[in-house]
Amino acid sequence: METTSTTRPNSLHRPEVRDLLDSLHRRSRGDWLRLPMKLPAFAGGLLRGKSMMEILKDGAARDLFLTISPEQGRFLYLVGRTVGARTIVEFGTSFGVSTLYLAAAVADNGGGKVIGTELEPSKHEVATRNIAAAGFSDVAEVLLGDALETLRDVPGPVDMVLLDGWKDLYQPVLELLKPRLRKGSVVLADNIFTFKKGLRPFVDYMQSGKNGFQSTTLSISDGFEYSYYEGP
Ligand SMILES: C[S@@+](CC[C@H](N)C(=O)[O-])C[C@H]1O[C@@H](n2cnc3c(N)ncnc32)[C@H](O)[C@@H]1O
Repeated sequence: METTSTTRPNSLHRPEVRDLLDSLHRRSRGDWLRLPMKLPAFAGGLLRGKSMMEILKDGAARDLFLTISPEQGRFLYLVGRTVGARTIVEFGTSFGVSTLYLAAAVADNGGGKVIGTELEPSKHEVATRNIAAAGFSDVAEVLLGDALETLRDVPGPVDMVLLDGWKDLYQPVLELLKPRLRKGSVVLADNIFTFKKGLRPFVDYMQSGKNGFQSTTLSISDGFEYSYYEGP
């Protein structure tokens, strides 16, 4: 019997997407070279009793990618495909690396919208340019400003959320979006290992089983909290 197989498109394999992601991941490794130059800002801030998060908020990360790893990106793409995501919200876009993986998933699901949000105007500008260069302007946009304002009117139902902005806002941003989450949606939150103490209340909220979520911390890169929304 003759069998036929069809190669399904994967937008991550389009040359302009693959090459752009390769280049952005390569450049993001330069964060390690830029970090020593931040030491005075970090040391001064810590001496003044500020937390790491407050120092980052003061602008120490303005030129840092702080991006997800390629492994996390491929995982985001697969989750987006698995849940058939048409609407994805991203808190913390930086230069748009994670946005590109999410946009690829939405595009390959047949279209929809990734709504990113970024506080820094210079990062917002570059992210918007990267989205255009990858050919994703029709399925992704980045809102400029504080997520607690910009995401207020995002239309539901939301199929997937990536939390990757400043860590003290994971909980408020989640609460803002929760009424618009569809049953069966997935929330992913990055940096659970680095900010173990600060994110403990958020992880407890997700894992308690009392708030509509089933959740576990995945050991992918810096720890991805993977939460399935069962409904209110
Ligand atoms: C860890 S980086 C995001 C990396 C990005 N998800 C990626 O993988 O390429 C965090 C970003 O969140 C942004 N951010 C932090 N707080 C924010 C807020 N309240 N609203 C919007 N963006 C915020 C920061 O400016 C920073 O660029």
